[in-house]
Amino acid sequence: MLRDTRENFSWLSIALHWLAAIWVTYFYLNGQSIEDSPSPDVRLWHITAGATFGVLLLARVLWRLATLMPRPLGTVAWQNLLAAGVKWALLANIVLAVVSGYLLVWSRGQPIAMLGGPVLPSPTGDWQSLHHLMEPLHKLTVHLFIPLVALHVLGTLKHVFIDKDGTLLRMLWPRRTA
Ligand code: HEM
Repeated sequence: MLRDTRENFSWLSIALHWLAAIWVTYFYLNGQSIEDSPSPDVRLWHITAGATFGVLLLARVLWRLATLMPRPLGTVAWQNLLAAGVKWALLANIVLAVVSGYLLVWSRGQPIAMLGGPVLPSPTGDWQSLHHLMEPLHKLTVHLFIPLVALHVLGTLKHVFIDKDGTLLRMLWPRRTA
């Protein structure tokens, strides 16, 4: 089954969750190495791979919007609210990181070469004020990932070691029943 139920995640949601977690971690680390490396190839790769996988990350966010999120297994209302807030903040941060990444390149008037060949010309042309807006925004989203992911992982660890419920298990393998 492709869609989530009120109790469980589908295999598609599980696959998208872990792929997105790997990509976000990869682009976070790869983006850091742009500052450390003098080679323009590092920046070029970040743009090409980031723009291509960014489309898939946006598709992952749209999929989340299109399907029900299973009910939380936790029983404390404020903790469930915090966990949901962090998840939606992570999704919003993915969208902002990808969109600001595209606009950062395009607002310099530069095209974006996608993996596999297609080249997307800049729809904005050289637009300095947009560029000056996107630069801090892209950096902000990058820095926000750290506390958001940390909170998210800490919450998961609490479910595993303190609550001892199936929160992590249902994100590892689709289950038939609650
Ligand atoms: C080691 C890292 C991670 C662990 C252990 C982890 C664990 C989990 C678990 C157990 C759930 C299910 C929660 C529930 O049942 O309510 C979940 C959901 C979710 N996680 Fe993670 N996660 C990790 C990394 C990430 C990252 C890097 C992101 C985004 C950048 C992310 C975004 C989400 C979102 C948005 C949900 C809600 C369901 C969905 O849309 O897939 N997670 N995570």
